[in-house]
Amino acid sequence: MNGIEFHNVTKRYGTDASAPLAVKGISFEVPQGTLTTILGPSGCGKTTTLRMIAGLESPTGGKIVMGGRDVTTLGPADRNVSMMFQSYALFPHMNVVENVAYGLRMGGATKPEATARASDALKGVGLVGFNARLPSELSGGQQQRVALARALVLEPAVLLFDEPLSNLDARLRREMREEIRAIQQRLKLTVAYVTHDQSEALAVSDQIIVMDHGVIAQRGTPEELYSRPQSEFVAGFMGEAMVFPAHAQADGRVALGPLRLTPRHPVAAGPVKVAVRPEAWQIGAPGGLPATLRKAAYLGGFYEYGFETPLGPVFVVSSDLERVLAPGAETALGLGRHGVSVVQQPA
Ligand SMILES: Nc1ncnc2c1ncn2[C@@H]1O[C@H](COP(=O)(O)OP(=O)(O)OP(=O)(O)O)[C@@H](O)[C@H]1O
Ligand SMILES: [Mg+2]
Repeated sequence: MNGIEFHNVTKRYGTDASAPLAVKGISFEVPQGTLTTILGPSGCGKTTTLRMIAGLESPTGGKIVMGGRDVTTLGPADRNVSMMFQSYALFPHMNVVENVAYGLRMGGATKPEATARASDALKGVGLVGFNARLPSELSGGQQQRVALARALVLEPAVLLFDEPLSNLDARLRREMREEIRAIQQRLKLTVAYVTHDQSEALAVSDQIIVMDHGVIAQRGTPEELYSRPQSEFVAGFMGEAMVFPAHAQADGRVALGPLRLTPRHPVAAGPVKVAVRPEAWQIGAPGGLPATLRKAAYLGGFYEYGFETPLGPVFVVSSDLERVLAPGAETALGLGRHGVSVVQQPA
């Protein structure tokens, strides 16, 4: 049993009782052997939450349970956790393999054994032939991989990552996140993973927790968050969805300009918002929203279009490379069922 539970946990930094709360009474569970990402904009409390799991910060209120045990007041040494930090401080005077082997040596492994396991871990993150280098002789991305190997080599019950891939280029980032996910699944590790990159969160998670200003805006599977956001904030954050004011009619359909949508969940008549992902628009749909193309950008596998419409500017992603529009073109935009969600306005 290595799951993590937060029960109404709050955190205020410092001793001034009038200081704002960085985390405002959050409750969630990371089931054993699963990966949860904590996603949200800068300053929303992600690192604070992770540091409380690690035991590096103590909560101001609430309870933290790990492996069925109340660990709220325990320090990091009394929790079987390993954390990879946002700033991945490597020991500057140790070479690469020594950095990775350090934790194993502290745990009592012999030098040859620690070195062998450290070399394997480095191989696992794609860093071969660098063992004797000092951190100062590596690029930022290579240092990040050393830090990742150092966290993984300990194979702790709970692994925490704070933006582990932020310094890597796009291709490496994809490889490394697949590697982290594969290791997590192979070793059935319980992982909490902080990122502000929604595509990274969608790719690796069993559960996503979206935070906003110290509270949980929504949590669920990637599919739930992407296709059924419960608020404008989550819809906007889980992709480049644009949110439009619309009107739910008495017949249950939603009027968005000339378009009529059937919401997946019944909504009460009155004002609502409709979140639309850029790939959901269908260009050239009969009876659709009149649109004039203002901007077009070719991005390799797809086009990005900026249309002007009676609803205001509309951003569209199209992978139709056969029929390419030129600025000034007049068309009509329709909507399918995917990538469109109706968000009820809070009463
Ligand atoms: N040691 C500290 N002392 C006082 N306030 C802090 C401290 N650390 C963080 N905070 C504040 O707590 C809030 C949450 O910070 P946190 O570092 O958890 O955000 P974050 O979601 O990790 O942001 P980012 O994406 O920028 O890393 C912020 O308002 C921040 O200024
Ligand atoms: Mg942070």
